[in-house]
Amino acid sequence: MLIEAIGLRKEYILEKVVTKVLNGLDFRIERGEFVAIMGPSGSGKSTLMHILGFLERPTSGLYNFNGRDTRSLSDNELALFRNEKVGFVFQSFNLLPRTTVMENVRLPRLYARAREDSDVRTEEAVRQVGLSHRRHYFSNQLSGGEKQRVAIARALVNRPEIIFADEPTGNLDSAAGAQIMELLQDLHQAGHTVVLVTHETFTSEHAQRIIKLKDGLIISDQPVAKRRFARDGSFIK
Ligand SMILES: Nc1ncnc2c1ncn2[C@@H]1O[C@H](COP(=O)(O)OP(=O)(O)OP(=O)(O)O)[C@@H](O)[C@H]1O
Ligand SMILES: [Mg+2]
Repeated sequence: MLIEAIGLRKEYILEKVVTKVLNGLDFRIERGEFVAIMGPSGSGKSTLMHILGFLERPTSGLYNFNGRDTRSLSDNELALFRNEKVGFVFQSFNLLPRTTVMENVRLPRLYARAREDSDVRTEEAVRQVGLSHRRHYFSNQLSGGEKQRVAIARALVNRPEIIFADEPTGNLDSAAGAQIMELLQDLHQAGHTVVLVTHETFTSEHAQRIIKLKDGLIISDQPVAKRRFARDGSFIK
């Protein structure tokens, strides 16, 4: 078991007003799973990802990662976990401007403890997302789909235990979005653990399992019937 959440809660307090965002979540994610998280806007999907990705701590409840109770992590250890154990992919790519593909992908290596093989790892991650031919392009010279592939390579470069993708196809047209989903599926096939947040049922069905959130609670958690996809992303019946 990679992730175990027990009674996970998160609330924000702004000017004495308490907003309860996550209201007691219980679930597990096994190593090698591909899970989609769905739910209406404001239901707490991104907040949950931020907690699971060590960007924030829960208000209460247990979050065990790889058997480790994350309450015992110091702020420094939490920052190391964030950099080395997880890779994030966001809707808005978040690439550095006026910076090449290689430099963007290499960035998380600067914060990693062991950096000796950074060149090899950067090349490998860029190859994994099929962008070796664009490696010296600047980020503003890339298409949206290519930018998102750079972001995925950057998420992979520290060889994380899990990849979190928050609406990774949200800013892409359907063809580029289908390519990104295909890439996430390839990574899953290669053994990566992937957690995807999405609004689209169609996109979520690339996963093996769908967790649905509403008002900060899990309202369903079910496997997806096995389906095959054509190269354009459509289902093969
Ligand atoms: N830092 C914060 N301070 C106060 N409230 C916050 C903070 N972050 C999130 N919230 C509140 O938590 C709720 C859930 O936000 P979250 O971003 O997790 O939703 P979401 O499910 O990802 O929505 P969307 O689909 O629109 O991205 C919202 O009502 C939001 O206003
Ligand atoms: Mg969100």
